Amino acid sequence: MPFFQEVTFPKGLPETANYIEIKEMSIYHERMKYSVTKNTSLFRYQYDKQKLFEGAWPIKDGVSVNAYLVQGSEKTALIDYVEEGASFDEELKELGLTVEDIDVLVLNHMEPDHTGGLRDFFKRRPDIPVYCTKIASTELISLYDKKDAHVIKPMEELDLGGATLAFIPVPNVHWPDTMSTLYKEEGILFSCDAFGAFGETKSVYDDELTEEEKNLLATETERYYANIVAPFSNFVLKAVDSVSALDIKMVCPSHGILWRKDVKCIIDWYKRLATYFAGPREKEIAMLLSSMYGNTKALADELVKRAEEAGVKMHVVRIPDDGASFLLEKAWRSEALVVAAPTYEKAMFPEAVYAMDLLARKGIKGRKSMFFGSSLWSGGAAAEYKGLAEKMGLEVVDAIDYRGVGTEADRAKVFAAFDQILEALK
Ligand code: FEO
Repeated sequence: MPFFQEVTFPKGLPETANYIEIKEMSIYHERMKYSVTKNTSLFRYQYDKQKLFEGAWPIKDGVSVNAYLVQGSEKTALIDYVEEGASFDEELKELGLTVEDIDVLVLNHMEPDHTGGLRDFFKRRPDIPVYCTKIASTELISLYDKKDAHVIKPMEELDLGGATLAFIPVPNVHWPDTMSTLYKEEGILFSCDAFGAFGETKSVYDDELTEEEKNLLATETERYYANIVAPFSNFVLKAVDSVSALDIKMVCPSHGILWRKDVKCIIDWYKRLATYFAGPREKEIAMLLSSMYGNTKALADELVKRAEEAGVKMHVVRIPDDGASFLLEKAWRSEALVVAAPTYEKAMFPEAVYAMDLLARKGIKGRKSMFFGSSLWSGGAAAEYKGLAEKMGLEVVDAIDYRGVGTEADRAKVFAAFDQILEALK
């Protein structure tokens, strides 16, 4: 059962969101300003669903990029920005403001999904004070030639006039430069990439999600985690510890929904996702399935039935058809990884090799694993799998190349290896 669905939310949509359809911009299709509190605003852009996030990850169900404006009685702070080609001029106008009214720019993280538009912004506001971490200050120079950033100290505070921002370094969640910002009086944590998700929703808050949106976020939160944050899971656990000690009433990430009803849900969910790095994980199986003419798939289908009969959940992800991004999501949570791929020119099917390499780079290790696949005039895939699996630290049960559709003896070998995995998951 996905963690997220353990929480029950009332249905409904926000009534005060101002949606603006974007017709002329290629990387976003919608933007919106929303009042989070009387002096805190959300500025949210929705990425075009045809785009690849980070130039790599499919977002067929979208992803938002969120920035926030906090207005104190003396100063106004903008927390994070947006990618190149976009600005917040329309959102500021709705508040009766212009870029000239922003007194401080807080940059939680320098990745250009949150900063690309600054190239233009700094031309208009070259002297604006910027608050960020030491590493971010060097990236600010490299990317935007902005040299005078104020480097924060851990838990340093900035008084905006009745609204105090405190800066909390959360290195490597996502990059070494990353921090979160706490609006102390309201208990609002602007958490940056931490506690974020893929997936576009009309709803703003956790307690407004429809059933459809909950189902979407149940998987898209985990895919975001596995694709973006997973290799930094040890740092996520540290970040979870540091924010758990704070009095937080709302979590406002830079991607995805805002959490106000059940803040603990998203924090505990991230903690569980981070725990998958070293284990324990769910007693489930992720199967990487590549098949050129169906001879590998035929045996894979039999394993699916065997898993069903044993009552073990198996996620079958076709490679390249479904995409390695989705395989990574399922492999991240699963205690076992089955690789089914044919031999292609004396080695493993190339798209399966790419997917294995991605899993390795993202920290997939320590799982029970096996390989099988069809070949015809040579083997080779099983040997390549063994080399990759060894580098990844997988616990290999067996690796079997078979000719054509396989003999009864081949099939028995594959079933025996799979049954060992099923047994281990009981
Ligand atoms: Fe959303 Fe690491 O940037």
